[in-house]
Amino acid sequence: MKTVAILSRKGGTGKTTLAVHLASAAHGSGHVTLLADLDRQHSAVEWRRQRQDVHPVVEAVKPGALFARQQDAARAGVDLMIIDTGPSIEEEVEQAVRCADLCLVVARPNFFDIRAVAESAALAARFHKPVVFVLNQAPHRQASIEAPVLMEAVSALRKLGFPVAPIGLRTRVAYQRSVAGGSTAQDMEPSSSAASEILALWTWVEARLHEERPVARTPTFISADDRPAPMML
Ligand SMILES: Nc1ncnc2c1ncn2[C@@H]1O[C@H](COP(=O)(O)OP(=O)(O)OP(=O)(O)O)[C@@H](O)[C@H]1O
Ligand SMILES: [Mg+2]
Repeated sequence: MKTVAILSRKGGTGKTTLAVHLASAAHGSGHVTLLADLDRQHSAVEWRRQRQDVHPVVEAVKPGALFARQQDAARAGVDLMIIDTGPSIEEEVEQAVRCADLCLVVARPNFFDIRAVAESAALAARFHKPVVFVLNQAPHRQASIEAPVLMEAVSALRKLGFPVAPIGLRTRVAYQRSVAGGSTAQDMEPSSSAASEILALWTWVEARLHEERPVARTPTFISADDRPAPMML
């Protein structure tokens, strides 16, 4: 079984949005998936309550019980556990990091998020866990040009010494609307740009989980016209 922890010290960066979308994408690609909700706010569990489908399985797990739950899940045939964490509480997030094969650290392209994720990445690195930054709520291109703030964020994250996922998520209403109804962007609008970027990110994460070393690639954001738009750094 592989375990992916989703973290960032800063609130509201998109951890739960990413967690439910990746868990759903993983389930859709045939993985027996458990989304463990470690956050005291239980946002992922709330999402599950709105949902018709019983998959992916979502459970509130107390940080102290996480390791035992991971062992039980592996014995029961779960092959992917995604852990959604809350902001700020380092001791609780530490439990998620300890259980993880890969830590996805989520940041929006702004100064405050990037400062906060530096600490989250350092926590994961302390436990020798692989870290990948995922940029969320990236602005859309204007006249085919990426916003300088986005390119600066990629550059700042790379300077921290960890890879940036080659697929980032743009700001899209589809994420907000779908999650509010216990759904996902890919369930609601399978041919949308949001669905494309989630599936592309999940495909990359899945491959990364089985790679020995991260492959450095230029981050790509799916543009409104559905064509991948490589960033020019
Ligand atoms: N790519 C996106 N485009 C548009 N809205 C987004 C995107 N990602 C997240 N959001 C919105 O941002 C808000 C915060 O997202 P979310 O709850 O996933 O963050 P979080 O990091 O889990 O927050 P917390 O730290 O409180 O757990 C939500 O309203 C969500 O719908
Ligand atoms: Mg959350």
